[in-house]
Parts: sequence; structure tokens; C-alpha cells
Amino acid sequence: MIHFGKILLLLCFIYVANATKYHTYKGFNQNSTFPPEFLFGVGTSALQVEGGWNQGGRGWSLWDYHIFTDPEFIFDGTTHEVAADSYNQYKRDIGLLKELGVNVYRFSISWPRILPLGTPDYVNPEGIAYYNNLIDELLANGLTPMITIYHWDLPLRLAELGGWLNEDIANWLGDFARVVYQNFGDRVKTWLTINEPFVLCSLGYAYGIHPPRVITPGEGFYECGRNVLLAHARLYHIYHDEFKSQGGKVALIFSADMAYGVTDSHDDAEAVEDFLAFTLEQYAHPIFSPQGNYPQRLIDRVGNASSLQGYKQSRLRPFTPEQINYIRGTADFFALNSYSSYYVYRNDSVKELHAVPSFDDDMYVGYYTVPQETTGGSMWVYGYATGLYDLLIYLKKEYNDPVIYFTENGSSDELGFYDEEKVDYYRGYLNALLYAIDEGVDVRMYCAWSLMDTFEWNRGYLVRMGLYELDIDDPNRPVFPRKSALVYKEIIRSRKIDPDYNPEPNDL
Ligand code: GAL
Repeated sequence: MIHFGKILLLLCFIYVANATKYHTYKGFNQNSTFPPEFLFGVGTSALQVEGGWNQGGRGWSLWDYHIFTDPEFIFDGTTHEVAADSYNQYKRDIGLLKELGVNVYRFSISWPRILPLGTPDYVNPEGIAYYNNLIDELLANGLTPMITIYHWDLPLRLAELGGWLNEDIANWLGDFARVVYQNFGDRVKTWLTINEPFVLCSLGYAYGIHPPRVITPGEGFYECGRNVLLAHARLYHIYHDEFKSQGGKVALIFSADMAYGVTDSHDDAEAVEDFLAFTLEQYAHPIFSPQGNYPQRLIDRVGNASSLQGYKQSRLRPFTPEQINYIRGTADFFALNSYSSYYVYRNDSVKELHAVPSFDDDMYVGYYTVPQETTGGSMWVYGYATGLYDLLIYLKKEYNDPVIYFTENGSSDELGFYDEEKVDYYRGYLNALLYAIDEGVDVRMYCAWSLMDTFEWNRGYLVRMGLYELDIDDPNRPVFPRKSALVYKEIIRSRKIDPDYNPEPNDL
């Protein structure tokens, strides 16, 4: 019997082989260099690297609760309790940053470390001291701190009050952010309010993969996104109203992946538009479009589906005119995380794929990641550098040529020095970025994910994305540079991509 899926996959491979322009050595843009003012960085987040889960007066995060109460939750049974031990070894981390030669370190502030109960009635002095030390040490070493205020470690107590489904979260996060700006804003000038609304809300409130592991794909998913936008806007306004004299910039981080129709059909072209509307524009349009608000196609789609399903109101609760104004324009730059690209399609089979009601059903799109250009390496990142190029061109057109900070990108690989797939991935994506810059896309910064292997959420340490490998079996948590670290270092030094640079372990 002919297997339709296999034929489709084969066609995709043929398509990708023909379509990819920016990843191959042949395609390497060796005439261009990254502009002198272009910044390079690496990223981590608090829960993923700090460890010290019960040190220094840290309160409980919702992740602690799920990890400790459900032994099945983390795929490989590891925990975040020690992680890379950055709470105790931040000076080691700064040594690595210096070794790489990066300009920027993107990290996040643990909400329960600063406000153990989530609320500002008790500010933990040891938490403040930790981040003061980290920031001071970065600055003393000529490194620029870039801080994510919320990277998913919600204080347990606020989760019990409803977390991202409670509209009060805008006030809770606002109170936390105020403490953060007050204490660190004299030295930190780039603020990333919330990491990846789509991932936060789909994994947490639709698919039940991340805490609170609530499966409400038709309602909670949208409520979460709506509250993320209101909370982000609140953080933006607090900064610009109360801390303007600090002279920094504030933005929300979007996750975005390019989409391509499986066929040239009208339906598949519509599927591309809808995929982008649900995964990216749901969050970017209210902030970056001149008129604000959700994209009309999203409003119509969810409104119609809700009404057919007997709801008296749309499951995508509308913003009031005041809220539309409050959210519109609340970004000083466009912060982008991107890892993969997707093939999308629409036909009758799609209706069988998704629960009803759900945002997937509303979107009415079937999708799968574009097969990666390189093989092996990662459990979930399918590198397709051409997709990044196309995405950046799309963002330039769609959002009126924004200043873009590329805040997250990277891949995972096997353990050991020779992380060749990851090296290919980085070269390919940086190469695509270089082409996009040559086309006039205003990207000012690139941040690799991640500095060292991090606790990859529910996948634990099955996914190793670090430029430095972390030995999780050694209580001292030593780290070792991988080939990708050396390649990245050389790109930063030379400001160009040399596909023939082939370092060995002791070349660092
Ligand atoms: C992102 C997330 C990071 C990291 C990365 C790689 O979605 O912001 O924290 O986990 O994926 O898996």
C-alpha cells in the first residue's frame, strides 16, 4: 500500500533541498561581516541554571511543586535543584562569558527568589544581593546584562490564586517588576518582560505539558495570552511612567517560526496566514500594529467557532478600547526567539486532528516541522536557516521595519566535544541572519541559547543545548567547552562565518 505520509515527507525533503539557500557552505555569505555595533550574547534562565532551589530564602515556584510531587513529570527523572549551580557559581559563568568574548548576558530573575510568596510585602534581601552581585560582576568585566523579568517560574502561591488565568496577574507581575526596576534599573538598561507568550500559554494551559498542566485549549489558552499582553503592557507602562530616568528599553519576547504551505493550494496559503496569526500575531499585532488589538482573522475565526459551538461570547475575550490603547505601542524593540520552521496544510483531515474546542481546531491547520537540513543532533529543534531569513523579511514588512533583538536561537546535540550538528545549526542561522541584515533587516543583537546545558523544563537533561557541556553527575557541576563554543567565539572575534574553521578541544 502506498503510504501517503511517506510520500509527503519525501516531497518535503525534495522541496527543502531545493529551497534552502542560507545554510550550505556554498551559500555562505563570506563577503559580509556583522556590523561593528552588532551585539553577540548568550542566554539562560533562572530556573534552568541557578539551582539553589532552597538556598538564600527562595520561595516555592510552581515548577518545584510539580517536580517534587510527580516523579513522572520530568522525562529523565532529573530535577532543577542544583542545575548548573549558577546561584553559587556565577563567577564561573562570567569566566565563560569572557572566554567566549560575548557582549551581552541574557538571564532571568527568579520571582520566588526575590518575592518568596510572590507578593511585595516581603522582599528577600538575599535574593536582591545575589542579582546585585551578578550584575556588578558582569559590569566589572565589561559585559552587558539583559534581563528577562518573567521566564516561567511562577511563585506557587500565585499559581494557587489562578496564575495566568487570573487577570490580577498584571498587578502581581507589575509589583514584582517594580521591585526589580527599583533595585537593578540603575545598572540594567534592557528589559524583556515575559518570555514567549505562545509557548507559555500553549504548553501551560492548552497541552498540559508545563505547569500548571491545565488542559483548556479552547479557553485557558486565550485567557492566558490576553493576560500576558495586559501584564506586559503594565510592565512597560510602569517602567516608562515611574522609571523613565533610568533610560532603558522594554520589550516582550515573541517566539516565532516561519511557515510554508505543503502545496501551492489556496487552502495551504490560508493555512500559512492562520498559523502565523495564531502563533505570533495574536501577541505581536496588539503591540506592533498601528491599530492595535488582535488580528481581525483571529477575532473572526474564534468568534465564529465559539458561536457555532453554542458559546454566547467569543472564547477569545475581546479587549476594551482602553485595553487596546494600553497595549498598543508597548515595545521599544522587537524581541524574537526562533528555532525551527513548519510545513502547514489545510484539508478535511485536519478536522480529525484536534480536540473541540481548541485553538488548534480554531486555527484549522495541520503542521509539522520542516525536516532539518542536518540530521541527528536534536530532539526537537529542526534547523531550517532559510526559515529564519524568510521570517526576518516577513517581520520587517509586517511590523514596519522594527529594531529586532534576536534573543534566543540554538540547537541541542549529543554529549561530547564534537557537537557538529549544533555547529552547522549555528553557522546556518548566523549566515541567514547576515543575509537578512544585508537586505536591510534591522537586527542589532544575536543571543545563543544557551551558555551551558540547562534544565530543559519537562525534558530535563535529555536536551543538551549548551555551548558548554555540564556534568550533572558531579556535585561540583564542572563545565566543558564544546566545539560550538569555539566556533561561536571565532565568529564573534572575526565578525564573520568561516565554514572551514575546525577547532580541536584545546584550541580555546
Ligand atoms: C525556549 C525557552 C528556553 C529554552 C529553549 C530551548 O522556548 O525560552 O527557556 O528552554 O526554548 O528549549
